[in-house]
Amino acid sequence: MKVLVIGSGAREHAIVWKLSQSLKVSRIFAAPGNAGTASLAQNIALAATDIDALLTFALAEQIDLTVVGPEAPLADGIVDAFNAEGLKAFGPTKDAARIEASKVFSKDLMEEYSIPCAYGKSFTDFNEAKNYVISQGAPIVVKADGLAAGKGVIVAATTEEALAALNNIMNDKAFGEAGSKVLVEEVLIGKEMSFFVFCDGETVAPSKAACDYKRIYAGGKGPNTGGMGSYCPPLIYNTTIEETIMERIIKPTVKALKDKDSLYKGVLYVGLMLTEEGPKVLEFNARFGDPETQVVLPLLKTDLLTVMLAVVEGKLKELKLSWHEGFCVGVVMASEGYPASYPKGLPISGLKDLPQSITVFHAGTALKDGVVVTNSGRVLTVTARAATINDAREIIYANIDKINFEGRQYRRDIALFKENS
Ligand code: AMP
Ligand code: GLY
Repeated sequence: MKVLVIGSGAREHAIVWKLSQSLKVSRIFAAPGNAGTASLAQNIALAATDIDALLTFALAEQIDLTVVGPEAPLADGIVDAFNAEGLKAFGPTKDAARIEASKVFSKDLMEEYSIPCAYGKSFTDFNEAKNYVISQGAPIVVKADGLAAGKGVIVAATTEEALAALNNIMNDKAFGEAGSKVLVEEVLIGKEMSFFVFCDGETVAPSKAACDYKRIYAGGKGPNTGGMGSYCPPLIYNTTIEETIMERIIKPTVKALKDKDSLYKGVLYVGLMLTEEGPKVLEFNARFGDPETQVVLPLLKTDLLTVMLAVVEGKLKELKLSWHEGFCVGVVMASEGYPASYPKGLPISGLKDLPQSITVFHAGTALKDGVVVTNSGRVLTVTARAATINDAREIIYANIDKINFEGRQYRRDIALFKENS
């Protein structure tokens, strides 16, 4: 089968890597891909958001399955466009992707179906939002309704900070139309984790839970990033928690979307806070997480193409997913200056000097005259799978310095816990 993977991050490299192990896959294309996907797939110079061009390409190449990595094309209806031409695409339709693309839609849905989440109120009027924030006081969370590349959520420690966020989103339109509505919600306290399920509209197959590290510096310091590391599964995760999440959150959400004529097919990602009152939803995403995918897919034993086809064809009921024992850890290497401005085009050395126990997924890399160079803020996710989480992290940290590019930075505390260190 011919497969097209859309996107250019380490998440998409991990998807390409896993699909490349499938005996059913004859050829993989990545659009636009990166230097990592180039070693397993043919990169096609088309932007992930250029739906028309991607569709033209998929029709011409007779692609059997297209896998959509990032949220923006899903929210723009790429799956609807492909389906309308009779092409199979893995991911939710535009209507179903509202679960991520509109935080107000998703909050309303959760309230209607009594799905546990933070108490919140939505606003289209700045003064009403402002008065509500003042009446509630801090800490408080302000969220732009639409997609904002992970920057639209402000957990404000003071009322001033919350009001500044409201002003920035609603009046200054920092995220454009994504900020024409805002959600103001209570702060949830607890342990945060992400949980992924495959869903074919009816049947839900649990995948794994994982944790990511959002801040740039060790100890959770510095500004937020797209994610500096991850591990799977979380040590506190167990089947009781999973059953609670499935019964109280996932199944009602999938049913709610079906009731709204927005049948959900694809990966459903739920960001959770494990509070004293049980798991509560922070957000839904309509896709795989990054950097979580880089540590979840190495643990999947089942052929990924088989899983994805079962999702698209509504046959998930017939499939049982199997997983490797153990843990997977991923450490992100980023450019100097990230998440602010950073240089590009710096040569990366040492990628060939790593032991087999390490798998490196590329994010912002490109090939320049046959040399792998940096091309973005997050450059690589260095991963290892092992019997214990400590073993996995030790393999990474014993080898990561073999990989070098000028100004590289990474956190040294990924998957480091008091209880197991
Ligand atoms: P979201 O994109 O909604 O997941 O928000 C991004 C991050 O903000 C989450 O991963 C949490 O760390 C944090 N966050 C979002 N909502 C809340 C909340 N209600 N309480 C505490 N933290 C939150
Ligand atoms: N890891 C956060 C995300 O993928 O949205």
